[in-house]
Amino acid sequence: MPPELFPETRVALPLDPGAVLLGGFALDAAEELLAGIAAIAAAAPFRRMETPGGRAMSVAMTNAGAAGWTTSRRGYRYTAADPLGGLPWPPLPLAFVALAGRAAARAGFASFVPDACLVNRYEPGARMAPHQDRDEADLAAPIVSVSLGVAAVFLWGGQARGDRPRRVPLHHGDVVVWGGPARLTFHGVDTLKPGDHPLTGPLRYNLTFRKAL
Ligand code: SIN
Ligand code: FE2
Repeated sequence: MPPELFPETRVALPLDPGAVLLGGFALDAAEELLAGIAAIAAAAPFRRMETPGGRAMSVAMTNAGAAGWTTSRRGYRYTAADPLGGLPWPPLPLAFVALAGRAAARAGFASFVPDACLVNRYEPGARMAPHQDRDEADLAAPIVSVSLGVAAVFLWGGQARGDRPRRVPLHHGDVVVWGGPARLTFHGVDTLKPGDHPLTGPLRYNLTFRKAL
């Protein structure tokens, strides 16, 4: 597609076949996304979930959409309802779905319509250990990941857990899309350093859009 259809992208940096960093793609939408996150968190608060091994994750999470990703001693799974309170997860704002679809299209994945959005909140010291996103029913759909607030280092690995990851800085407004041959790439986030962002203070937020059902 001609790049002028996607003025949001300042720089597109290929990471691997099927994976690309769209620098600044979400900058214009950032304030709307942050307001959406606040609305989601008002209905389904951020919480530190437990790993199957019984440890509290350092990243606080909530979800929006028809399905929400959870971890507990019972394992990883998608649920239609928030286990805290039992109500359905808040709906995915239309602007979120539209942005994710535009980013996926820019990365070469047409017609991406997410039904799940995991919202991650990192305080200084929080990190995400390397993992694959593999709990989704439809692995043909890509993952779209939006970074907001304090910058972090994305650990972009390979197809095997032991592959040494590349260190990719993710700034406010950056979007990473991975699918196709890169869909099961191991990835994580290095320990968040203390920082101060005009819109989020010391925090980093990340939205990952998935087709889970
Ligand atoms: C994730 O893999 O769910 C989080 C990625 C990120 O925070 O950038
Ligand atoms: Fe992930």
